[in-house]
Amino acid sequence: MKIITVKNSDIAGIKSADIVMDCIKKKKKFVLGLATGGTMIPFYESLSRLINNKKIDVSSVKTFNLDEYVGIDRNNEKSYFYFMNKHFFSKVGISRDNINFLNGNAKNLKLECKNYEKKIAKDRIDLQILGIGRDGHIGFNEPGSDLKSKTREVILLDATRKDNSRFFNGKIGKVPKKALTVGIETIMKSKKIILLAFGKNKAGIVHRFLHGSIDKNIPASFLKKHRDLTVILDREAANELD
Ligand code: GLP
Repeated sequence: MKIITVKNSDIAGIKSADIVMDCIKKKKKFVLGLATGGTMIPFYESLSRLINNKKIDVSSVKTFNLDEYVGIDRNNEKSYFYFMNKHFFSKVGISRDNINFLNGNAKNLKLECKNYEKKIAKDRIDLQILGIGRDGHIGFNEPGSDLKSKTREVILLDATRKDNSRFFNGKIGKVPKKALTVGIETIMKSKKIILLAFGKNKAGIVHRFLHGSIDKNIPASFLKKHRDLTVILDREAANELD
């Protein structure tokens, strides 16, 4: 595992975008696993700027997003699909056919998850970018998730709904209670993983994740078993590390 600490989230966004871009340039049909959340915004800003300034052809890059709320239409501005369009897809030339997303409004959610899992298995993710929740969740794999978990429907914990309520005008009641998420096993099969964490709110979980043992109550801790994990922190998030 490699840990990189930089001054602030803007620099971390640039650093992570540089790493991702180097990887994309090395492989023609690159498969990129993507995440949502406030942490990802500086990363998407830097990556789209790099792609556009350097005129990199990303039309054949394939993407798989980690998760989506259940019962929210993808055109709804609270959906993760909308977030991705706003912060990344609308800015770069990735072909629409190459964008893969879980549909939280699918009639048969089990089948939706099964098919998504199959698609990822077929393509194999070259690089997965991740954030981390304050309880250690990755994607929507909440504490208690199994290392062997696959893409599935999950019930969100109140702590996660509370944290994410800032995207729902501060109203926890408006945050969906369920979501679809790629599983931990699915994430672990990615060839390379980069996890980003910024701000003092994340200092506690970053300390528990990096210094604690591998424990299903901190789902991110499973990542420490991965052979190619890079953790990029800003100073505030790294504040409690030794
Ligand atoms: C959500 C997402 C996660 C993300 C987490 C942290 O729950 N499902 O993928 O890592 O939020 O979000 P933020 O970056 O806004 O702190």
